[in-house]
Amino acid sequence: MGNNILILDFGGQYTFLIARRIREAGVYCEILPYNIPLSEIIKMNPKGIIFSGGPSSVYENNAPKISKEIFNLKIPILGICYGMQMIAYLLGGKVLKSDKREYGFNRIKILKNSILLSGVKDNSKIWMSHQDVVEKLPEGFEITSVTEYSKIASFEKGNIYGVQFHPEVSHTIEGMKIFKNFLFKICGCEKNWETKKIIEKIISDVQDKAKDSRVVTAVSGGVDSTIMAYLLYKALGKNFYGIFINNGLLRLGEEEEVLHNLKNRLGLPVKYINASNIFLKKLKGVIDPERKRRIIGDTFVEIFFKEFKKGDLLAQGTLYPDVIESVSVFGPSSKIKTHHNRVKKILDLMAKGRVIEPFKFLFKDEVRAIGKSLGIPDDIIYRMPFPGPGLAVRILGEVTKEKLRILRQADAIVREEIKNNCDIKKIWQAFAVLLPVKAVGVMGDARTYKNVVAVRIVESKDGMTADWVRLKYEILNKISNRIINEVQEINRVVYDISSKPPSTIEWE
Ligand code: XMP
Repeated sequence: MGNNILILDFGGQYTFLIARRIREAGVYCEILPYNIPLSEIIKMNPKGIIFSGGPSSVYENNAPKISKEIFNLKIPILGICYGMQMIAYLLGGKVLKSDKREYGFNRIKILKNSILLSGVKDNSKIWMSHQDVVEKLPEGFEITSVTEYSKIASFEKGNIYGVQFHPEVSHTIEGMKIFKNFLFKICGCEKNWETKKIIEKIISDVQDKAKDSRVVTAVSGGVDSTIMAYLLYKALGKNFYGIFINNGLLRLGEEEEVLHNLKNRLGLPVKYINASNIFLKKLKGVIDPERKRRIIGDTFVEIFFKEFKKGDLLAQGTLYPDVIESVSVFGPSSKIKTHHNRVKKILDLMAKGRVIEPFKFLFKDEVRAIGKSLGIPDDIIYRMPFPGPGLAVRILGEVTKEKLRILRQADAIVREEIKNNCDIKKIWQAFAVLLPVKAVGVMGDARTYKNVVAVRIVESKDGMTADWVRLKYEILNKISNRIINEVQEINRVVYDISSKPPSTIEWE
């Protein structure tokens, strides 16, 4: 590691954000569970350590705790929220279990010159989200700022610092300044995390690992797999083997568009496998959403591995959030993507060291920055996410060719209107869902009895939470009119106004 920061995760909901801020400042960092052995930390030789926030209370029996010995390493430490309380607890201070929650904006009053807070204005807006508070300082510590409700909003002693508020959330206006102070003035980090250097490192790592082996990868046309394929091809030339599998569940014109992007616009040699009939046959009569997903996942793996020969390596576009999820303090989550990248066949290959995951330390925005730096066009870099099981999770009930045809038309209208009328970068996903009900309508003089389509348009940062877009009525109206006029089999359009949670983005 050397020039990097280690974030110990105590289960905080903002731990990710801490890592993002540090990377934005140009420093590499990793998130690891709070309970990794001290010997591992010593091996990594980080320039600084951050204790994240967390939902626990330090005096609880099962609260995540670390050994006091960490302070003997003499590495600068910044504790955030629960992390600060952990410092107080370990070094003999006192944490008060409060029954009141301080949540939301506040302003800090700076009491003392502090390197951590240098340049931060008095009365600067900060974001609080905590219940417990540090009541009594550990010996030798000094209070550096307070708020209206917190007697100790930040404290420090030597190179150990704690903040009760959350500098990582954007609501803390000068949060980035605080991180930069910690990184550059306290830890002595150098800026080393720049897109160009990341690209060089990925290319040389891939070349080292692959040597003369062929590297096989599935390309879907999505942001991660496309950018990864581009980099792999750059690194491996003729030893790159990309496969685009059409599962028959793609959107209108998608296979042509993806192939055109990959082959003509990006110059990637990709093998096209049209497996539509195989997928649709296996999905015949299947209604249960989980079974649908399983069939699609298994079939995909089966087809993919027909192309995979002994001696090949497999590359996949796993991102850092998936990795963190699977090593999380609270155990592997049930995130879908994690499952897909970790089926038995792939795990076996991993055990043999035959899997390359060049993006496994990157966040999505870092992958996009790589794409931009490589000159990949914006429409590819900012493409909306489309789930692996495709339209199958947007056709409620059995998937048939006829239903796919109807949904494709309605979906294309939704996407076209959004593209023409909205700022596409602000919208996470926009699509249509075919419902398993029919409704009565009237067209001309005749009664109709046709399908209903739901329109789902959401904004989101990462797909984990989402809100429905308050689209202008005129645009909704146009979408509805066009679908009903242009798609013969549909006579009713509804708009999905549920947020995630409690709903999910996809309907199945
Ligand atoms: P949900 O529906 O769980 O979706 O709110 C969150 C995000 O994940 C996408 N999604 C998937 N992506 N394989 C994928 O690659 C899948 O099986 C899958 N299921 C959902 C979804 O489109 C949304 O962006």
